[in-house]
Amino acid sequence: MGLVTACVFADFGNTVRVIGRTPEKIKKLNGGDPLIFEPGLQEILLRNLENGNLKFTQSYDSVGESKIVFIAVGTPSLEDGSADLSQVKGVASKIAKNLGSDFTVVSCKSTVPVGTNLEVEAIVRENAPEGAKFAVVSCPEFLREGTGVSDTLYPDRVIIGSESQEATDLLLELHAPVGGKRVVTDLASAELIKYAANSILATKISFANLIAQYCEKTGANAEVVLEAVGFDNRVSEKFLNVGIGYGGACFPKDVKALAYIGKNLGLDTGLLDGVEEVNFNAKSRFVEKVLRIFESGGDGGASATKKKRLAIWGLSFKPNTDDIREAPSRYILERLLSEGFGLSVYDPEAMGHIKAIFGDKLRYADDKMKALDGAEGLLILTEWNEFEGVDLETVKKALSKPIVVDGRNIFEPRKMKKLGFKYYSVGRRDVK
Ligand code: UGA
Repeated sequence: MGLVTACVFADFGNTVRVIGRTPEKIKKLNGGDPLIFEPGLQEILLRNLENGNLKFTQSYDSVGESKIVFIAVGTPSLEDGSADLSQVKGVASKIAKNLGSDFTVVSCKSTVPVGTNLEVEAIVRENAPEGAKFAVVSCPEFLREGTGVSDTLYPDRVIIGSESQEATDLLLELHAPVGGKRVVTDLASAELIKYAANSILATKISFANLIAQYCEKTGANAEVVLEAVGFDNRVSEKFLNVGIGYGGACFPKDVKALAYIGKNLGLDTGLLDGVEEVNFNAKSRFVEKVLRIFESGGDGGASATKKKRLAIWGLSFKPNTDDIREAPSRYILERLLSEGFGLSVYDPEAMGHIKAIFGDKLRYADDKMKALDGAEGLLILTEWNEFEGVDLETVKKALSKPIVVDGRNIFEPRKMKKLGFKYYSVGRRDVK
């Protein structure tokens, strides 16, 4: 988020200095390596390194010359579901110590619980030089991984939570080239908007996955049901795709944090707890389905799985990113390995990250067809475009049994039946 925001603001002609703490990363970034896979990002990075608008550094010196300083550090989940604010607070005090004599906006883009920016303000006040003029503002962002650049250029809304008119005006000016509605509000509302926005999207996904369970029990088709529900424009068809649940660095963390905040406020958070529970069930039910299918494959019970090898397509938490944080694939791989399956995996971008965690427990294929070679079935965990367009006849030939268990519903059951596959998907009738 920090990198994409920095690149886009530099591209508008602003002078942007990005402060990081890891020298190797800073070196790579200054050399034009964006470190993450994000469509369109490298181009903007290179362009703005070249024209001098953008520079990466460890030094806080540039704070003193900046009109606006964004905080864009991580707020990961702690054991109890609360957000770890140590990085936000740590950088707030460093920013404070480096403030210059002109008015500076300290704008928090990190997702933080209600009240945090008042704490940030107190930290800045405590550490700032005598007489420093500043305002702390909440400016949450809504970009998605994989479409980060266009989401930053064309957001649905820009939220500015501020008690200072001068700060609000500076942020409105900075955002002038981007689209979307403007919501200028108080700090607490801005902080809550971010959690509420992510939580309602996660709620839609879990609701869809719950309806998928009803469909599997009754023979109804989840895609038809949810599409029809989404035709009501009060609902909208977006974020009702069923599958193996949401992952990533945002939804799981933010739903847990909102529930945690609610419990501390003495509120009933059953709805949010349920969203998380259904999301966990989406991936665990997928594993149970795989066990049922491959343990009843005609050659015995659980012990027979020991020798079975399955191919897996897709490891990132969603397509067009190499991110595997909270990816459903990680849980599914762990469970299947512990059940004794051999797994050949393939993902267009996320292989390196998975290898760093699973090491030699998995076989890594350098292309999707190699992963299939002789496997007894194919599992699809991420809906990359290259899987949707695959030649299914070739897939069938490469597998030792024509079994596909699709966690993202990328194929049409009728077509799969015609081609002679046994095809299992989510919330739709199985093809056997
Ligand atoms: C999410 C929000 O969509 C952004 O608006 C927000 O700025 C961001 O979090 C954040 O807080 O930084 P992101 O996590 O990048 O963005 O990805 P999404 O496209 O929202 O997908 C999240 C997860 O939900 C993925 O695992 C995806 O596969 C899953 N999903 C999404 C579904 O299972 N079904 C759907 O219909 C949509």
